[in-house]
Amino acid sequence: MLNLSKDRETAVRDANEFVVELRSVSKHYGESIAVANVSLGARRGELLCLLGPSGCGKTTTLRMVAGFVEPTSGTVSINDIDMTRQPPYRRDTGMVFQSYALFPHMTVAENVAFGLENLKWARAEREERVKEMLRLVELPHLAERLPGQLSGGQQQRIALARALAMRPSVLLLDEPFSNLDAQLRVRMREELREVIRGVDVTTLFVTHDQEEALTMSDRIVVMNAGRIEQVGTPGEIYEAPSTSFVAKFIGWCSLLDGIVDADGTFRSSGGLCLKGNWSPGPGTAVIRPEQIRLFSHGAKGVAQNARVLQSHYYGGATRLLLDVNGEQLTMQDRFPFGRHPKVGDVLNITICIDDMRMISAAPS
Ligand SMILES: Nc1ncnc2c1ncn2[C@@H]1O[C@H](COP(=O)(O)OP(=O)(O)OP(=O)(O)O)[C@@H](O)[C@H]1O
Ligand SMILES: [Mg+2]
Repeated sequence: MLNLSKDRETAVRDANEFVVELRSVSKHYGESIAVANVSLGARRGELLCLLGPSGCGKTTTLRMVAGFVEPTSGTVSINDIDMTRQPPYRRDTGMVFQSYALFPHMTVAENVAFGLENLKWARAEREERVKEMLRLVELPHLAERLPGQLSGGQQQRIALARALAMRPSVLLLDEPFSNLDAQLRVRMREELREVIRGVDVTTLFVTHDQEEALTMSDRIVVMNAGRIEQVGTPGEIYEAPSTSFVAKFIGWCSLLDGIVDADGTFRSSGGLCLKGNWSPGPGTAVIRPEQIRLFSHGAKGVAQNARVLQSHYYGGATRLLLDVNGEQLTMQDRFPFGRHPKVGDVLNITICIDDMRMISAAPS
């Protein structure tokens, strides 16, 4: 399966279908390395997300694609043309910065028209495109307002309209929702996906919010300390993390180090035993909260006693930290009203190993 997708990856590469391609790109600031040997490609119309903790090099990578930062080494190609040393305006990209960066003294319409004016578009054509873009982001009635008279979400949409007005082949978005409240964020995600699909633009999207990455992306690039940890679809990244870092960064999980016996059974260093058919050798078991369930008679799996160490109520579910045979595991479930487990309670649970990921410690 992995090999198949590798073959497909190679085939896509050979066909040069990447609209944006970074080859062995690094950025050094004196002694410190912001981005280290990053290679990645975004396909036509794809929404590719750069995800990782603060300071891992996401903005620097995006700015190297836009042309605001010059790589120390490596190349950046857009539409198969080497753009590494080209200025931003030659790159056919539109960028939305984290702060939106609208011009405060210009109206919404003037902001959206800004790039077109620089290109000396005729007035009538300019006005037509501005109207089209404001319709696209569903704010045609705000054309004459100043940015200061808009809400954060409206400013975000105007920044998007401004970036899209030039019909760039590549759209670059740096945490565009970071200033929005939780509900608006979710709505903007859906709207942005629709707008992007409507204009069929290749998009690189930076976030450190895993939920945003999982819900919006075609593929996710997980970065850590300037390097790429894993590239994959949201499903691949969540279900089949290739490193402990990725497993830990995407979603809640418990990581248990241990050894898989010759018969496929995993024994954690703390003493927890899980019968499976994993490949023998040292490994790390990734146990997601939803893989731990209350044991019921007739259920698959082995019953284990679990003592509740912490209990957090989230409304739709309760998350518990459990002590199972000396190992600490996180579980999430919905309990009937009035029957939420308390610290010190002992539960009878089972660990579902069906889709459990084992990260092999052996060098690949
Ligand atoms: N102009 C600069 N001079 C020196 N170091 C820099 C410069 N720009 C970025 N860095 C460093 O490079 C690293 C990567 O920064 P970058 O802004 O790309 O991170 P990020 O992943 O976007 O983080 P965040 O999520 O906080 O925005 C950081 O350690 C940062 O301090
Ligand atoms: Mg950043």
